Amino acid sequence: MTAMQRISGAPAIKPRKMDFPFSDITEKYFFNNNSIITTYMAALSATFPPGEKGFIDSVRNYRDQITDPELQESIKGFIGQEGQHSYQHKEINKVLNDLGLFVHRIEKDLEKKIRDDKGRLDKRDFLASTVGMEHITAIMAEYLLENPHILDPLPTSARELLLWHAVEEIEHKAVAFDVYEACVGERRRLHIVMGVQTVLFLWQVGLYQLSLLRWAKKMPSIKDAVGAAKFFFGKDGLARNIVKPYLDYYRDDFHPWDNDNTALINKWKESRGYPLDVDLTEANIQGATSV
Ligand SMILES: [Fe+2]
Ligand SMILES: [Fe+2]
Repeated sequence: MTAMQRISGAPAIKPRKMDFPFSDITEKYFFNNNSIITTYMAALSATFPPGEKGFIDSVRNYRDQITDPELQESIKGFIGQEGQHSYQHKEINKVLNDLGLFVHRIEKDLEKKIRDDKGRLDKRDFLASTVGMEHITAIMAEYLLENPHILDPLPTSARELLLWHAVEEIEHKAVAFDVYEACVGERRRLHIVMGVQTVLFLWQVGLYQLSLLRWAKKMPSIKDAVGAAKFFFGKDGLARNIVKPYLDYYRDDFHPWDNDNTALINKWKESRGYPLDVDLTEANIQGATSV
């Protein structure tokens, strides 16, 4: 089966312009007053604006080489969606920063790291790292949409932000992969880059989380540690449930749509009364992603 055939079964990729208030986030440790889970979520949110700009740039490097009009359309949708995610996470990051979780420092640090990587990395590796991160975000998205109850302790706007982001990550999960297959196509490179960046990603998010706690002069309590252990490693826990889908990536015939989880998208649309689909212009997208 070719990449192009696989795309045809995937959902349309249309950016939705959202407007979350975030004024309901009033507590510094906004997840159940748990400093570990809160700083984990804040660290991830901080990485999105610079990270997603990097994803867009790595795909844009190859855009001119894509001749398939369907994939070109998907790239446009991917850029629009990631641009909106970046914009909305910048908005929530302002609120978190004002509450004393200094995520702006992380945004700036990662922005510099990605700029350096961009200058140093082979553009095939830069795209391969996006393909890998898109798989990681897609499996985390699937986990959230299958277990939305784990987000119940969050303020409504933060919960809605994560669920919307999750839906769009699934919608566009194969775009960077298909661009890579069409323009580079080396599976071994994809696997090596994924192995290295998984370690770097876990290390970096852990360091950012520790920095947030240190800057806030916060020592987590035993109760925080127990809650976090359950959140990550409990029966419904995040870490426990994404290992198998993560490993699928290393199969030589893997494609993101081997796992057809469009039902999760439809369920979200029905429950929220969305979509608020808009066709964003490139100019809007540029504005949303300038960091
Ligand atoms: Fe995203
Ligand atoms: Fe994405």
